[in-house]
Amino acid sequence: MFDKELVEKIREAFPRAEKDFNGRERAFFDNGTGTLVVKRAAEAEAEARINCSANIGGVFNESKQAEAIIKAGREDIADFINAPSSETIISGESATSLVFNISYALGKDLTGKENIVTTNYEHYTNVSPWEELVERGKIKEVRYAKLNMGDGTIDLDHLDELIDENTKIVAVTAASNMLGTKSPLKIICKMARKVGAYFFVDAVHQIVHGLVDVQALDCDFLVFSAYKLFSSHGSFLYGKKELLETLKPFKVKTAPTSVPGKFEWGTRNQAMFAAITGVMEHFQWIAKEVQDKYEGRFMEYEGRRRELRIAMDAIEQNEKGLSKAVLIGFDGVPGLLKIPEVTVYGITGLERLDERVPTFSFEVEGIEGEEVARRLWEEGNIAARSGHFYSLAQDVHNKQKVVRISLVQYNTLEEVRTFLIVLKKICTDK
Ligand SMILES: Cc1ncc(COP(=O)(O)O)c(C=O)c1O
Repeated sequence: MFDKELVEKIREAFPRAEKDFNGRERAFFDNGTGTLVVKRAAEAEAEARINCSANIGGVFNESKQAEAIIKAGREDIADFINAPSSETIISGESATSLVFNISYALGKDLTGKENIVTTNYEHYTNVSPWEELVERGKIKEVRYAKLNMGDGTIDLDHLDELIDENTKIVAVTAASNMLGTKSPLKIICKMARKVGAYFFVDAVHQIVHGLVDVQALDCDFLVFSAYKLFSSHGSFLYGKKELLETLKPFKVKTAPTSVPGKFEWGTRNQAMFAAITGVMEHFQWIAKEVQDKYEGRFMEYEGRRRELRIAMDAIEQNEKGLSKAVLIGFDGVPGLLKIPEVTVYGITGLERLDERVPTFSFEVEGIEGEEVARRLWEEGNIAARSGHFYSLAQDVHNKQKVVRISLVQYNTLEEVRTFLIVLKKICTDK
């Protein structure tokens, strides 16, 4: 795990890691819904708004600078996810709008006979755009791979059975936003490739927790949202260049005909690109803090690409420590698995922490989720949330009101400890 000193420095990089805007000290555990903003991103965003609010395409300074900010932001993202070039990065209002955008474009070439294969633990963003294609007669059906009872992982045999010669797209989340389970993307990609289907990855939940490498994955599309990555609202979609070039998105006639512009609806928000550059600088700073431990590693990457890989790997390792603490507790404080009234969904084995991110959904016997979230806040200053997280897994298993906590780099063992103590108290004083 990160040493205490580094955790403190990381917390200093987030203006609201310690206290909310009212000065209330609290542990922010609602990161799965949206993370806190990193200072560099907020400052860069504000600066871009003030200094470069003009639209691109002009001959004057503000306009040229806005263009430079957008170009730099795209390059940063390409480095972050190891995309071959910045032209493969499309920006949009949200992941939802980007998936719809791609689904409309793909739909133009479909005949009504095809199917799309996905899983029972997708966010509805990776469900409804495909179901729309069924409603509009563009494909025959969307097929859903079952989850294994017990650990909630995807039943890969079932997924493989669902894929046939009519499968056009295999669309899977990189990590379930309810269960925290990571999908075995490389295995699933191979299944898609056997029949020549496109492989679409929803990385919205996973992006903040570890490495993403679109070339190593060989995915055709990958989407993520900046507000889940310490930045502003707005999202990014990677697509293989040859695919983006051939697809015909819905666009206004006068908009660019080349990538990425042809996929981008309306003018860009330069402040959003400035903010994501701020996030990348933060990750580069983390890489410098931990670089001693990475001598000789990730040598196949150069410069910033290597630094971003180092940072994300270090973050992933740190988060495994947080997951372990949540599950089994520490310093004599019982973890979720040791509180008899608590049922945790998803992978709980300590030997399997590589297969999950630190997102935990749970229920407390005899207490409604809303009540648990309210008491965590009122009695423990823990910002958690209960309810429906747009996860299909919740509907399939009729779990409409789970409590969810989701931890990231600025969360501490001390916060986990407070959370566990308060939760135990809530369970005992029912
Ligand atoms: C896995 C996953 N996919 C997609 C989304 C939707 O993202 P956006 O709000 O950017 O449309 C979310 C949001 O919670 C998510 O967790």
